Amino acid sequence: MTRRGFIEKGTLATVGLSTLSKSLIAENESQHTVRAGIIGTGNRGTSHLGNLLTIAGIEIIAICDLDNSKCEHAADLCVKAGRTRPKIWSKDENTWKEMLDKEKLDCVIIATYWDSHAPIALHAMRNGIYPGIEVPAALTVDYTWQLIETSEKTGIPCMMLENWSFRQDNLALLNMKRLGLFGDIVHCHCAHSHDCIDHWFFDQKTGDQKWPAPYLLKYNRDQYPTHSVGPVISWMDINRGDIFTEIYSTASASKGINAYFKRKFGNDHPNANLKYKQGDIVTSVLKTKMGKTLVINYDLQLPRPYSNRWLLQGTLGVYDEEKGSVYMEEKSPEYHQWELWKPNEVKYNHNWWNTDLSDQSHGGTDLVMLNQFINAVRVKGPTPIDVYDSAVMTAIVELSGISIKKNAPVPFPDFTKGKWETNKPYFAL
Ligand SMILES: NC(=O)c1ccc[n+]([C@@H]2O[C@H](COP(=O)([O-])OP(=O)(O)OC[C@H]3O[C@@H](n4cnc5c(N)ncnc54)[C@H](O)[C@@H]3O)[C@@H](O)[C@H]2O)c1
Repeated sequence: MTRRGFIEKGTLATVGLSTLSKSLIAENESQHTVRAGIIGTGNRGTSHLGNLLTIAGIEIIAICDLDNSKCEHAADLCVKAGRTRPKIWSKDENTWKEMLDKEKLDCVIIATYWDSHAPIALHAMRNGIYPGIEVPAALTVDYTWQLIETSEKTGIPCMMLENWSFRQDNLALLNMKRLGLFGDIVHCHCAHSHDCIDHWFFDQKTGDQKWPAPYLLKYNRDQYPTHSVGPVISWMDINRGDIFTEIYSTASASKGINAYFKRKFGNDHPNANLKYKQGDIVTSVLKTKMGKTLVINYDLQLPRPYSNRWLLQGTLGVYDEEKGSVYMEEKSPEYHQWELWKPNEVKYNHNWWNTDLSDQSHGGTDLVMLNQFINAVRVKGPTPIDVYDSAVMTAIVELSGISIKKNAPVPFPDFTKGKWETNKPYFAL
């Protein structure tokens, strides 16, 4: 299924019990109930709610959105699913503070606009609440450091909800990498190639700006790196045996948005002749301490089918997601010939994917991720994606912009403060 298809499914709250949720009920029944809140019940927050309602042992205690009708809709979904109606918090843009101060929550899902993610997460941690933050976790490196420092000080884990790290194909590849089938990893490539101009940044019917559109006018950077880089950081052992040391980003001209408006709405549409700072394709090259390289493409504003173009290359082989192929020097049947990826995905399947979840949002990836997050909250343990990995993915937003502006590489912070040298691989083990 394409990401667009995933997204369309994701926006429909999947209320009801799936096969997986039945098994989760059995798994979670004897454990204590997790008290959850949701801030931001737009498309993504409602999709998360739908998934959370299929997991047993969770109570949705409180819901907050600027738009009261979205809160009401979310609360109705809880009732329809046979749960208690959550309390609604919807006065102004700071009502989330009151909710986090007053409600006794174990965790909160943050699915608001980008600029409020970090402030809400910081406040949650200070109240002893696990934040599950939508992507990106923060818009500045300064906020990224604050998330780390607050998580360290409060002892509350902080997870960015990067769902593509939990995809079945990406986890199978991680298993294969850990078995040494690709030898030493040398290079990776990834992209977020997804035409979002025609539905996410602008209204499909009127062309009016939606909340993320002003970022395209104001900045030129990789605005959305986390879906592409999420799985890659585990393949490259970032923060666990290696770290990024520098990032060098460059951007193409910005032509796609103007061309889209002229094509679809005509030359006179107010958005057709605005000057967008955001280049159509941003290419970032990152180097690591141990000599690996990574290329990331931002590609959200040209017409094209969805793709992540994941590629992993090591001393013993190569995986090419877009080709649907893999080659392993010591295992593939024919010398220097591709073999199909799919049988390998089945063979090296990760145990988080032991049920068919294809009827769930994003093909089940969101449910796998949320289940792992909730399991961590339930036992007050570490989250599957920690604050340092969240930081690495997030920092690319601002750092890529600085590099484009300077037309020079910029240093990549060591968010682990040296611990990367002794940290052991952790994600999905
Ligand atoms: N991981 C994924 O696959 C994926 C997919 C889509 C969106 N996202 C992320 O999810 C987030 C939300 O995106 P969306 O598409 O759902 O947008 P949306 O506009 O549909 O929903 C955002 C909601 O947040 C509410 N909100 C904003 N500021 C608030 C505040 N201060 N207090 C309370 N409510 C507030 C808005 O009223 C709105 O209902 C974004 O960060 C986006 O990057 C992730």
